[in-house]
Amino acid sequence: MSQTVLIVDDEQTLRWSLGEALKDSYRILEAEDGPTGLHLIQEENPDLVLLDGRLPGLAGIEVLEQARKGGFKGQVVMMTAYGELETAVKAMKLGAFDFISKPFQLEKMSKTIENALQASKLKTANRQWEAAQSKSDPFHDFIGESPRMHELFEKIRKIGASRASTVLIQGESGSGKELVARAIHRSSGQSTGPVVEINCAAIPETLLESELFGHEKGAFTDAKARKKGLIEAAAGGTLFLDEIGEMGLQLQARLLRVLENRTFRRVGGIEDLEVKARIVAATNKNLLQEVEEVRFRQDLYYRLSVIVLDVPPLRQRPEDVAPLTNFFIDRFNHELGKGVVPVDGDVLDVLKSYSWPGNIRELKNLVERVLLLEDLAQLDLEHLPREIREPDTNPQMGSDGVFRPEPLTAVELRHILRTLEYTNGNKSRAATILGISRQTLREKVKQGDRAKATTAGQDD
Ligand SMILES: Nc1ncnc2c1ncn2[C@@H]1O[C@H](COP(=O)(O)OP(=O)(O)OP(=O)(O)O)[C@@H](O)[C@H]1O
Ligand SMILES: [Mg+2]
Repeated sequence: MSQTVLIVDDEQTLRWSLGEALKDSYRILEAEDGPTGLHLIQEENPDLVLLDGRLPGLAGIEVLEQARKGGFKGQVVMMTAYGELETAVKAMKLGAFDFISKPFQLEKMSKTIENALQASKLKTANRQWEAAQSKSDPFHDFIGESPRMHELFEKIRKIGASRASTVLIQGESGSGKELVARAIHRSSGQSTGPVVEINCAAIPETLLESELFGHEKGAFTDAKARKKGLIEAAAGGTLFLDEIGEMGLQLQARLLRVLENRTFRRVGGIEDLEVKARIVAATNKNLLQEVEEVRFRQDLYYRLSVIVLDVPPLRQRPEDVAPLTNFFIDRFNHELGKGVVPVDGDVLDVLKSYSWPGNIRELKNLVERVLLLEDLAQLDLEHLPREIREPDTNPQMGSDGVFRPEPLTAVELRHILRTLEYTNGNKSRAATILGISRQTLREKVKQGDRAKATTAGQDD
């Protein structure tokens, strides 16, 4: 059966000429205004909609928006007037396959239509495949081919299958801690309950307490009725405490008691209730350092760190850069209806040698941005932002032994600091060893501190 193409445009001549050009290959439907177009989308579920941006009744972008809300999954090509780039970008975000500026050549339009329908076939096949996969595989969409990640997957499996009641996940921002938490949950065969997530940084302490533990009626002014807390809601499943490093000291004390006794009380309650959820906490902070600076309770740290999963930063697993990049290209190809090919060669080398301070989130955002804004068949060096192409403007010292170029001043400063360590902070001795005056030594350290302070400021 031939595929259906709906043309929504108020210009009759345009509908006619497009219809003539396409009618031998597709079944053609036409609408001359927004509401009729939307109606036909809902009634006929066409494979492809050629949608004019400016329409009487309902603008093209609104038709698209409402169609998507109504569950329409077909392809859309926007036809925009010259200069309507904003509409075009918005349309792409709403999952339009492409946009074509008017006036266009029929030949170009035919090619776009062909590509869109081809992509839609792939999309359907992929959706079916994904649906089948995600049910059975706890590591679905969790990419990792490096030895470090294989190790991590193995640990997750073991922890999932075990009765471990508390797990701590550590790792830099964007490294995938949330995915780890979900994978633990999915790996635990007997878990019948949900994953309940709460971000400890996002909620004020007093609220966090009643969110976690729930409250009895009348426990405080606003407590008009008894309310279950998240610990109860997660029964039989997993309670995910994200950014645990941000939890206040008082609540930390309560949490410690909960972890030790496996019981808790609702705010204002006297009954001890059993904790029936696995508690998984995550942090991107160095908790030991937080303990040292008395922002995190030492006893809670020890209780939490019985089972620790460390998610390595991306820069320590360059083997994962290619599979991750191609995974995201694939994903945004489908979402945005593009056909960008996998990366390799120079581009891959550059991506591998970059330090990825924002880890996988940064890589994912990069791929999305490029695919969204550029009309391309292949990712080239020119599409990468400068800080990635020229890593020497963004020096990073890796403890992983991977060479990352940095300015001489930075090397010098590290050498000076090491020497000072060696002399136990004795500046005269350090200056003698380094062959410079005490005065010069002091200045160099001061300059280094200032430079560090400014780069630290820029990082955020
Ligand atoms: N191994 C991976 N495979 C596929 N996608 C990943 C992987 N790791 C991370 N991601 C994706 O990268 C993004 C960031 O991951 P996630 O939210 O888990 O990071 P995080 O460690 O919790 O960061 P933060 O500390 O900032 O909360 C998410 O969109 C996630 O799906
Ligand atoms: Mg997170």
